[in-house]
Amino acid sequence: MKAGQGECEFFSVKTEKKNAEKLHQWLVARQLLEHNFETMPSADFIFFPIKRKLSEKEAKDLKKIVPSFAMNRLLFSPATKQPKSLKEALREKLSQEEFSKLVSSFDTLGNIAIIEIPEELEKKEKLIANALLQSNKSIKTVCKKLGAHQGKFRVEPVKIIAGEKNLVATYRESGCVFKIPVGKAFFSPRLGTERMRIARQIKPGEVIGAFFAGVGPFPIVFAKNSQMEAAFAIELNPVAVKFLDENILLNKAENRIFPVQGDVKKIVPKKFKDFFHRIVMPLPKGAENFLESAMISAHPKGCVIHFYAFVPAANPYEKIFSLIEKTAKKLCKKTRILHKQKVRAFSKETIQIVIDFEARD
Ligand SMILES: C[S@@+](CC[C@H](N)C(=O)[O-])C[C@H]1O[C@@H](n2cnc3c(N)ncnc32)[C@H](O)[C@@H]1O
Repeated sequence: MKAGQGECEFFSVKTEKKNAEKLHQWLVARQLLEHNFETMPSADFIFFPIKRKLSEKEAKDLKKIVPSFAMNRLLFSPATKQPKSLKEALREKLSQEEFSKLVSSFDTLGNIAIIEIPEELEKKEKLIANALLQSNKSIKTVCKKLGAHQGKFRVEPVKIIAGEKNLVATYRESGCVFKIPVGKAFFSPRLGTERMRIARQIKPGEVIGAFFAGVGPFPIVFAKNSQMEAAFAIELNPVAVKFLDENILLNKAENRIFPVQGDVKKIVPKKFKDFFHRIVMPLPKGAENFLESAMISAHPKGCVIHFYAFVPAANPYEKIFSLIEKTAKKLCKKTRILHKQKVRAFSKETIQIVIDFEARD
């Protein structure tokens, strides 16, 4: 066979056009598709370039899904134009009405993308997900959100709809690396700035209470970017704790971060009375219920508490300030507000804030 400009010979799999989507999915999931070359359509068939010959077992598996496929070697042309965005990749594949419903923004954690599929586009979810894989080469898995963050573990349920069958993301932040079980433990890249803002305030020798630790982003970023003595990372979700353990080892922080599985309210007043120089409380829904535990574990000579909350945008601080005052009074502590700021907008009416305050005897 004589090759034209840029053409290359590959093994290919051919199937009827009606089975093309199924075959495409199967190849992408096994990283077999040669993405940089165009597929080749004929009147009734479509030919996909693949990275290598299918093994006997792969061919047998594929036959169960696409009984009529065939394999041979062919010349393929290089892919001409790579869509630059999800919108560009879908402009000609969705009707105008469908296109207007498309949510083109999405979250990524490492090479896993998490997208929202409006109900009206559910039948097109595979098409949308494949367009995302095509327009963003760093994305290897696409999953869709099945609901909001929920339950006491604050997890966001998801389902894989295209790409590799992997839900453990590898995410890098501030010189640290995290393994995150997407859909099974909470993680938000949006709090990265906050983690570094606090890390910069930590003085050498501090002992830190990392409450609601999740897979460990706060204490691990602190360990990497400060001279803290130790952090006790307290977390209820057993899956999160398993990854917290792994992330501590991955970041070589096992001599400075000590994971504790359980309920902050039960563990902290008993085991950490008068203990911490600094406490971080990233549980924006309901951290008010843990203020007393935090103050009990504050070092008598002074402890800085970083308190997060979802509050009404119209009047963000008043209620929390009076709660801090009331709790301090009950425990005979003195408090002093050091800093307050909006962290991010959550919805039109609700924002996430952080209040840094000192508690001492
Ligand atoms: C909003 S997430 C924050 C996780 C992590 N700090 C991060 O920023 O990725 C809150 C975490 O608190 C945990 N949690 C909820 N209630 C808890 C409790 N009573 N004691 C300990 N952890 C709790 C949840 O399982 C969840 O992982």
